[in-house]
Amino acid sequence: MRFILGAVAAFAMSTAALASELAPDAVAFTDDGVTSSLTGVAGDPAAGAETFKSRKLGNCLACHANADMSGELFHGDVGPSLDGVASRWDEAQLRAIVTNSKQIFTDETVMPGFYSLEVGQYVSEPFAGKTILTAQQVEDVVAYLGTLKE
Ligand code: HEC
Repeated sequence: MRFILGAVAAFAMSTAALASELAPDAVAFTDDGVTSSLTGVAGDPAAGAETFKSRKLGNCLACHANADMSGELFHGDVGPSLDGVASRWDEAQLRAIVTNSKQIFTDETVMPGFYSLEVGQYVSEPFAGKTILTAQQVEDVVAYLGTLKE
C-alpha cells in the first residue's frame, strides 16, 4: 500500500485551464454521470492509454489490471480489473468515475478524483488546489476506457 500511496502523491499536476475547459468545480454530476465533455474536444484513446499507464499521470495500473496492458509492470489489484469496463458503465458514468470517483463510489474510496479539487484522502498536501489530470487527459482516458468492452 505504501508504494501505491507514494505513487499517487507523485502524480504530475496541472492547473492550466484552457478557456473552453470546465473548471473542476463547475463539472455537473447528474444521476446519469457527467453527460457532457469537459472540454468539447473528443478524447483520443491512444493518448488515454498513455495517460492510464504513465506513473506520473493516471497511474491507473497501480490499482487496476487489465488484459490490454498485461505487458506493463506494477499491475496492482487494489481496484477491480477494468476488462470489459465499458460494458458495465457508459461514457457519462466513466467520465464521472475518473473526474471524481467519490461522486460514484463513496467518500472512503481509495481511488483519487482525477479532475477534482478534492483529489482524495491519499494525495499529499502540496497538491491541494490542483487537479491530477487535465480535463483533456480525463477525456482521453475515458475514450480509452470506452475501448475496453466485453
Ligand atoms: C489508489 C488506487 C486507485 C487508482 C490509482 C485508480 N483507481 Fe480506479 N478504482 C479503485 C477502486 C478501489 C475501485 C473500486 C471502487 C471502490 O471500491 O472504491 C475503482 C474503480 C474504478 C472503476 C470502476 C470499475 C468497475 O468495474 O466498476 C473505473 C472505471 C476506474 N476505477 C478507473 C480508473 C482510472 C481510469 C484510473 C486512472 C486515471 C484509476 N481508476 C485509478 C482504485 C484506484
